[in-house]
Amino acid sequence: MRVSIIGQGYVGLTISVFASKAHEVIGFDLNTKVVSDLNKGISHIEGVPSGDLKEAIDTGRFRATVEPSEISNSDIVVIAVPTPLDKERKPDLTYIDAACKIIAENLTGPALIINESTSFPGTIRNYIKPAIEKYSKQKFDHMYAISPERVDPGREDFNQKNTPRLYAGLTPEATAKTRDFYSTFCDNLVEVSSPEVAEAAKLFENTFRQVNIALVNELAQISHALGIDVRETLDAAGTKPYGFMKFQPSAGVGGHCIPVDPSYLADVAEKAGVEATFIKRANEVNLDMPKYIAGRIAKDNGGSVKGKKVLVVGVAYKPNVADTRETPAELLIHALEDLGAVVSWNDPVVGSWHGKESAGLNGAEIAVVVTKHDVVSAENILKSAPYVFDTTGKVKGAVQL
Ligand SMILES: NC(=O)c1ccc[n+]([C@@H]2O[C@H](COP(=O)([O-])OP(=O)(O)OC[C@H]3O[C@@H](n4cnc5c(N)ncnc54)[C@H](O)[C@@H]3O)[C@@H](O)[C@H]2O)c1
Repeated sequence: MRVSIIGQGYVGLTISVFASKAHEVIGFDLNTKVVSDLNKGISHIEGVPSGDLKEAIDTGRFRATVEPSEISNSDIVVIAVPTPLDKERKPDLTYIDAACKIIAENLTGPALIINESTSFPGTIRNYIKPAIEKYSKQKFDHMYAISPERVDPGREDFNQKNTPRLYAGLTPEATAKTRDFYSTFCDNLVEVSSPEVAEAAKLFENTFRQVNIALVNELAQISHALGIDVRETLDAAGTKPYGFMKFQPSAGVGGHCIPVDPSYLADVAEKAGVEATFIKRANEVNLDMPKYIAGRIAKDNGGSVKGKKVLVVGVAYKPNVADTRETPAELLIHALEDLGAVVSWNDPVVGSWHGKESAGLNGAEIAVVVTKHDVVSAENILKSAPYVFDTTGKVKGAVQL
């Protein structure tokens, strides 16, 4: 089949490389630098090695483009564009809308349109289908389906082939064609009865993580106040062989999914007349962690960090990736600066961030570890400052969260 994938980021490029094993794939993106690099075999995404990309290009079944007309005679179009939050932390579907316009204006025949971007239940039925119909000059009988993406960048044990994939179409024909497509590169397909179930399941998976991380972050605060070691408490609770799942305390949540997706669920809940108090509170607890940590550091350092040189170690939102989207390190830097600290950061995996380069692991009076990459040793972190605060539990000998 001829498949066009709209958006060549973490999700779109990953799918492109896998789908090109069996299909002719056009990777469409608005970013000219990304597209030009992809066509040279240079991947910008962790988890998609440039070698795999080159292999896909060499088969002649993958190429990237910024030219919308190249999607014209696709059998399948996959939407993989960002679904962020706006300034009020409400769902922002402007990228989806732009993708719908491109699809509508360029398809020259009927196609199966699959959404892989994360959004609220009803997005494919009540938003994407009407948008494509509105923007189309020629009326085609397109099919519509959803198959939410579960890629976890940097993870090696689960990939497109072995991660169970949910899917559902708006019609039985759309469901069947979606199954045919993904079965060419995914071994474990899970059909659900409606697109809304698949959309809701995706949001709930990440809401589950957000809520449990908030819960454990609250426990970290309670434990500290009571003089109990939170990680030992969690290890102890984790010996229960059933009914308990261990989450670790941290400086908060980051990335494009966990801090964002629960707000999509809360928003759609509110529109349906249900106030999602629990989901909203979890979000607040995690967003407040950096302030809590800055307060603890100030208290341990004579009650103030004013004028002190503070080094934030690890600004990526998780270990061994360069992704800084929604990183709690950013909120922590602001919280420390609000208390008057002079803050720099070290992260050799990220390298440069907000126009600044990673600082050395030395010269600070206080270091605070947000993310511990494997390439940065715990010994070197411990030596980086006379006072080291560790939010990761991986730097033994440092003050623990
Ligand atoms: N990153 C993850 O781990 C992950 C996991 C599961 C689901 N998701 C979801 O997948 C979706 C995409 O996320 P991502 O991480 O791949 O984003 P990304 O930012 O890595 O990539 C998105 C790409 O889309 C391009 N783009 C934006 N508007 C476009 C348009 N109108 N036409 C063509 N290209 C356009 C951007 O230039 C960018 O290259 C989001 O809804 C996200 O929530 C992401």
